[in-house]
Amino acid sequence: MLQGKRIAVGVGGGIAAYKAGDFVRELRRQGATVKVSMTKAAQEFITPLTLQSLSGEAVLTDYFDTSQEEKFGHLHLGRWADAYVVLPATADLLARIAAGMANDAVTTSLLAFRGPVLLAPAMNTAMWEHPATQRNLATLRATPRTHFVGPASGPLADGDVGPGRLSDLPDLIQAVKGLFAGAQLNGKKVLITAGPTREAIDPVRFISNPSTGKMGLAVADEAHARGAAVTVVLGPVGELSPLPYEIIRVTTAEEMLEAVMHRVEQADVFVATAAVSDWKPQAVSAKKTKKTDAPQSLALVRTPDVLMTASAKVQANATRPVLVGFAAETHEVITYAKGKLTRKGLDLIVANDVSAPGAGFGGDTNVVTIIDSHGTTSAAQGTKREVAARLWDLVAKKLGAS
Ligand code: CTP
Repeated sequence: MLQGKRIAVGVGGGIAAYKAGDFVRELRRQGATVKVSMTKAAQEFITPLTLQSLSGEAVLTDYFDTSQEEKFGHLHLGRWADAYVVLPATADLLARIAAGMANDAVTTSLLAFRGPVLLAPAMNTAMWEHPATQRNLATLRATPRTHFVGPASGPLADGDVGPGRLSDLPDLIQAVKGLFAGAQLNGKKVLITAGPTREAIDPVRFISNPSTGKMGLAVADEAHARGAAVTVVLGPVGELSPLPYEIIRVTTAEEMLEAVMHRVEQADVFVATAAVSDWKPQAVSAKKTKKTDAPQSLALVRTPDVLMTASAKVQANATRPVLVGFAAETHEVITYAKGKLTRKGLDLIVANDVSAPGAGFGGDTNVVTIIDSHGTTSAAQGTKREVAARLWDLVAKKLGAS
């Protein structure tokens, strides 16, 4: 997909700038031609010579330098590129891009660029969470042709732990590919369930599971990057950074069902990634149960099956959405997943051995087998975003949009 593509990479001045070298190398390995621009601060972290050697092209560092201007030109880069990636997009760089400033090699060439832009933010967590940065992000998310990848969460160079890490190389590359697949799901409506649900026992206790919603949000990110209008019905997970698509927050399986049933008939694709709690207490105590009054056992009843109910509603429609389920299993993965595919009337199911290394709840990677209604299987593994990309390749075929 990157073969023959011309990609401009604007490097910002953050510690993650050293990763720009690997990024440039991987783009070239996949067949792209790469030209680099750098801010002054970026040159404190990695030298233009390094990026010149890795890209095999002159590096734009100073738009006032007459010799550079002669052979390279600050407008040339914007005219030349098919896509522009900014990495790391520091808080300062995001602020300047959001304001439409053109005061260095990166911002000037970016402002003169008319194609798709990918911003890969990386900074300290406090800077990321600062209202000023969040305001700039909101502006940029509303800017046409502007896309984001990351930041990832985890340990940062300064010892903090939280959002602010530059996304991993496979996710960066996948997001660049997403820029070129951008039109594939244009005009398509995608409905996704994600995260756990929570069923109250009393006002301070509940039944739930460890789902974090990461897989569902990766499916949503990838659909959005391919041009779909995305709605996510999301169970209780922690605070999220602003996302460029609709999020409907729900708590219980019944609330999730209601939100889905209102929307599923209008959707072109419905993907159920949520880990819906299968049971709820038969009775919810209105008052906190004191520990001395603990019941000997808890009577449970089944919650609705969101996917199965939604599937039953649309099966007879002349045009119905492509239906995709996930199957979390610990044994006899393929057999159980195929059973769910048939029972729930699905087009595709993503079978997931949650006990396998690198798979399951909470992590950033997954290992899956995707099975279609004819029994054809395809394996996918990697980051959750890469797995999501594989899934959308298959869904796009079903939609006749690949
Ligand atoms: N699902 C759902 N509502 C439920 C249970 C499951 O929408 N109450 C969806 C999930 O989002 C997933 C698929 O159905 O896409 C399969 O979920 P899973 O938990 O693997 O299977 P179950 O049907 O719950 O079967 P079991 O727990 O017996 O494995």
